[in-house]
Amino acid sequence: MKTAITEMFGIQHPIIQGGMHYVGFAEMAAAVSNAGGLGIITGLTQGTPEKLANEIARCKDMTDKPFGVNLTFLPSLNPPDYPGLVKAIIEGGVKVVETAGRNPEQVLPHLKGAGIKVIHKCTSVRHSLKAQSIGCDAVSVDGFECGGHPGEDDIPNMILLPRAADELEIPFVASGGMADARSLVAALAMGAEGMNMGTRFIATKEAPVHDNVKQAILAASELDTRLVMRPLRNTERVMTNDAVEKLLEIEKEKGADLTFEDIYEQVAGVYPRIMAEGDMDAGAWSCGMVAGLISDIPTCQELIDRIMSEAEAIIRQRLAGFLDA
Ligand SMILES: Cc1cc2nc3c(=O)[nH]c(=O)nc-3n(C[C@H](O)[C@H](O)[C@H](O)COP(=O)(O)O)c2cc1C
Repeated sequence: MKTAITEMFGIQHPIIQGGMHYVGFAEMAAAVSNAGGLGIITGLTQGTPEKLANEIARCKDMTDKPFGVNLTFLPSLNPPDYPGLVKAIIEGGVKVVETAGRNPEQVLPHLKGAGIKVIHKCTSVRHSLKAQSIGCDAVSVDGFECGGHPGEDDIPNMILLPRAADELEIPFVASGGMADARSLVAALAMGAEGMNMGTRFIATKEAPVHDNVKQAILAASELDTRLVMRPLRNTERVMTNDAVEKLLEIEKEKGADLTFEDIYEQVAGVYPRIMAEGDMDAGAWSCGMVAGLISDIPTCQELIDRIMSEAEAIIRQRLAGFLDA
């Protein structure tokens, strides 16, 4: 399948693995890229330019296909060394960067100057247009269904994607709620040039996380995610667990007075305990509603091959069949 996204990034299939904290290590990115998609290393999980440079080098040892690095801009009292991280990306010869959080205006000239393609992930048409206007090459349009930060507009992809198609000139991929061939074909029908998946890629053989995380995704239905930190305007869609239910109780109690300190225990520094140690009640971890569509743990190659062959069958048989009949 050839789309503007496969051509732009030099990949075989229009499938991207979104940056994921404590999941997007070199093993994950290389597995997705080796399977013909675009794997992405999560820059902030490495944290320092030295560690990121090392992770990029490790990924290059595992694949000769293109892969990307995610740079997430978060409000922080101790911001990471973004210029240093950008330098590590450029010197590492990375060709694609996925930005997220704030708009990437400050780093864009450096990345573009080095010939790097930038795909900005955002959750609204207005932010997509902003990304286009500052010179991003593509957008990842993240609907309300998504795992992680869906923003504050709550527009699901059934509306958001055609809205983006109506307004954008640069290509975009659909993100949030994408799991299989049906997701891909629907996304293409609504104007996207491919899809970005987060949660689905955690439940793969190569995802470098504790098996408890994969089993939790398999066991979850589409009813098992919660929105936390809404009062802080930092909404995150997470898998429910004891810590999350406690967090929601605190939010209810504090109301508009909620501060980050009130929920520190449930959100700060919990990712390594969950993803590496498999302590599933340690705190809040991002997960999409799409968990309800995930029921196996294939290799990335099996997953991507299945998506592409079933997508072809849907297009050639089911959809064309409606017309031929
Ligand atoms: C465990 C987890 C961690 C994530 N961490 C990040 C992150 O650090 N930066 C980022 O831009 N997006 C992050 N995301 C969002 C994904 O890149 C992707 O946009 C999202 O998962 C898409 O929705 P889906 O889960 O329904 O596929 C994370 C998602 C998950 C599930």
